Amino acid sequence: MTNFDFAKIGIETSDEWITERTGIKQRYISKNGETTCSMAADAARKAMHRAGVSAGELDAIVLSTATTDRLLPATAVDLQAELKANRAAAFDVAAACSGFIYASTVAEGLIATGVSETILVVGAEKMSSIIDWQDRSTCVLFGDGAGAAILKRAKHTPSGGMTKGILSTYMRSDGTLANLLYRPAGGATIPLSECVLSERSHFVKMAGREVFKHAVRSMSDATDRALDGAKLTSDDIDLLIPHQANMRIIEATAKHASISMDKVYVNVDRYGNTSSASVPIALDEAIECGRIKEGMNVLLVAFGAGFTWASMIIRF
Ligand code: ACO
Repeated sequence: MTNFDFAKIGIETSDEWITERTGIKQRYISKNGETTCSMAADAARKAMHRAGVSAGELDAIVLSTATTDRLLPATAVDLQAELKANRAAAFDVAAACSGFIYASTVAEGLIATGVSETILVVGAEKMSSIIDWQDRSTCVLFGDGAGAAILKRAKHTPSGGMTKGILSTYMRSDGTLANLLYRPAGGATIPLSECVLSERSHFVKMAGREVFKHAVRSMSDATDRALDGAKLTSDDIDLLIPHQANMRIIEATAKHASISMDKVYVNVDRYGNTSSASVPIALDEAIECGRIKEGMNVLLVAFGAGFTWASMIIRF
């Protein structure tokens, strides 16, 4: 769906307004019948194929999503059934746009403590189902999609060999700011009712300017902390993969970290904000097009509703 397509559904906006403020030119909207689970399954199958891992080898499935297909049970168990991952524990992680990094950190912990050997981590979002298509200040920002990765225990590194894998992780949250980006109703506190539906308060509400300010501050903090944790400097980073919400937030984050834009992966122009799918989609594209090569240090960083923010440095 391009910026020009909003005119067709009666939204008063323009390509110029959206491009100038966000850098977004188009986004993907799932077809009828496509679900968070079906998109997650597509991404998961590709990730398993590339990693040479079968569904039966998965010990756990950690699915990050803000758009569960049903309120109960977790979408991760639908994915487990769909993939026939018969040995896998499956659960969702709800950390909005930071969710893929949160989910990967949880998976790393399960592997480090010996609970699991092989884990499927997915970020999948059908944002089109929770945004208000009558609210031009939010509906132009988001898109649907999914990305996935397989995490496995690393083989023993020969002495003198360079450590590969996750070098550092960092996660934070500030729930006092939850109401700046949230869905006011539709949950247990204010269940769905005629009134909720007519007020459209089950859809995403966002205080854009406030979110922008906190996003820049928190993503800057998270890049610093990931570098500290890995005992690296920004000169050591070969590629920065930030959450793809807004070009101006991406540029401010890169500037803070002193990472030049030629070392930043950007696809927000093509996908819009796919929440927790944004980092794994960008990671996949960067690997596929050869931007990530063996030995490179890649810094992932994200910020989202909650607020939550997180970062991770991976050596490939
Ligand atoms: N098209 C045209 N005009 C619009 C649109 C639109 N789609 N949306 C809002 N406007 C109008 C407003 O009505 C307002 O008009 P007014 O001055 O006559 O009242 C005007 O544009 C300015 O609105 P602002 O909200 O002040 O615009 P701002 O410059 O702050 O840009 C934006 C809005 C793009 C949402 C910006 O605040 C932003 O990027 N915030 C970050 C939000 C974000 O990325 N959230 C994603 C989730 S969190 C995350 O993933 C990081």
